[in-house]
Amino acid sequence: MTVDGEVRTPMVRGLPLVGNALRMSRDPARFFVDCYREHGPVFRVRVLGREHAVIAGPEAAEWMGTKEGRESLRSREFWRGLVDEYGATRTLSGEDGPSHKELRDIMRRGYSREAIADRLDEVVAITDRNLDRAWRPGSAVPVLRSMQALVTDQLGELMSGASRPEYVPDIRLVTMYILNVLVTRQHPRLLLHDPRYRRAKRRVAELSRAMIDDRARAGADARPALLIDDLLRANRDNPRAMPDSDLMISVTGPYVAGLDTVANTISAFLYAVLKHPDVLARVRAEADELFARPTLTERDLRGIPAIRGALMETLRLYPIAVVQMRTATRDFTFHGHRIAEGETLYIGTTVPHFLEEFYPDPYRFDIDRYEKPRAEHLAPGAFSPYGRGQHVCLGKTLAEVQMLVTMARIFHRLDLSLESPGYELARKATPTPGPALSFRVRVDGHRA
Ligand code: HEM
Repeated sequence: MTVDGEVRTPMVRGLPLVGNALRMSRDPARFFVDCYREHGPVFRVRVLGREHAVIAGPEAAEWMGTKEGRESLRSREFWRGLVDEYGATRTLSGEDGPSHKELRDIMRRGYSREAIADRLDEVVAITDRNLDRAWRPGSAVPVLRSMQALVTDQLGELMSGASRPEYVPDIRLVTMYILNVLVTRQHPRLLLHDPRYRRAKRRVAELSRAMIDDRARAGADARPALLIDDLLRANRDNPRAMPDSDLMISVTGPYVAGLDTVANTISAFLYAVLKHPDVLARVRAEADELFARPTLTERDLRGIPAIRGALMETLRLYPIAVVQMRTATRDFTFHGHRIAEGETLYIGTTVPHFLEEFYPDPYRFDIDRYEKPRAEHLAPGAFSPYGRGQHVCLGKTLAEVQMLVTMARIFHRLDLSLESPGYELARKATPTPGPALSFRVRVDGHRA
């Protein structure tokens, strides 16, 4: 205790100069769990000379959604780099309070379950054309690259009505630079001068102009109604809320939010299922039954507990957003520890994913945890793959449907195996944690 009754916040031991950066980048999820075990829900870390406060565990996850949590945190600083680089005034992820609510209201429908619910056959068709192109029998497929191409294709169609595959490498490159340099700042700003990035940025600007022009020509009554339509309507009817300068980052927002997240998650899903033959058999049986129906409806997705359980386990064990980064808007006390206005905070919402108290034998891939009566994820603060609080993933139900359909289709159509049965997943930490680019699977044949 300090003199005024506050608790002295422990500092995690680290190396000279780099501090905790190495351990944190090697396995961020484990790093924060180990620190939580040793120090409790509040501690400090040092990363390359900068000190940050961490609040973690179920208590932090719950607190983010409270009024006090919402009022004590802001996101602006982390997204400012992106907003400035693209000459915009604001972006959904970087706003808080009423300004955030205004943008979220404009975008809610376009990012919702509705945006995908009636389009499952399209998602299947896009998946098929990607599998037919790049997943040939006898080949060893680089999983993450293939999933990035597939997800870019799907998101383009779903959110703007066109996929334009010739732009996939540019979208992927720009998204990676945005996440690495401008948002998480794991790489230096100098990299923004890289001619490959400058070129890709120009091409993505060209693409978003073409998407906007095409959709504007299609008219306000074009069906199905898409996110881009709502953005264009807001731009026309309420240009203060959606000025021309903000259209580009809003139109390409689904890529920044959805490309890396979904591609990483479904790549990890593929690994985890192939690693567990008992799970593979159950997933295949459900997938075959699902596609034996003449058409696929959202309702059918409720009857696939093994595939859903495998997705939940993947989101739990391979979270792409281990922590959320925020700035303290004011001085506040959390569990007796003082956090000062202006401090950078990491909020370890996924720490409970690895705690025995919530998930017995927590590192075991057990797809039956989620069905009642176990329902281990329903304990307060236990499960937060999509974040918490006011910025909780706006696309989470859409993403869930997209991932369930895609994975079911892949296991229905393809006979896959790991390069060797003993293969252990190679992982990367940037821009977000997930399978490494070197992860490949063998296509042993086509099943359907
Ligand atoms: C595996 C899939 C996904 C995961 C795990 C995920 C996770 C997250 C997380 C953790 C956040 C909150 C970040 C923060 O608080 O700082 C977030 C925000 C967001 N996500 Fe997702 N996401 C996924 C897929 C998607 C997809 C496919 C879309 C849309 C196409 C999407 C759209 C968004 C948007 C728009 C936000 C910003 C919300 C706001 O700031 O109000 N996400 N996501």
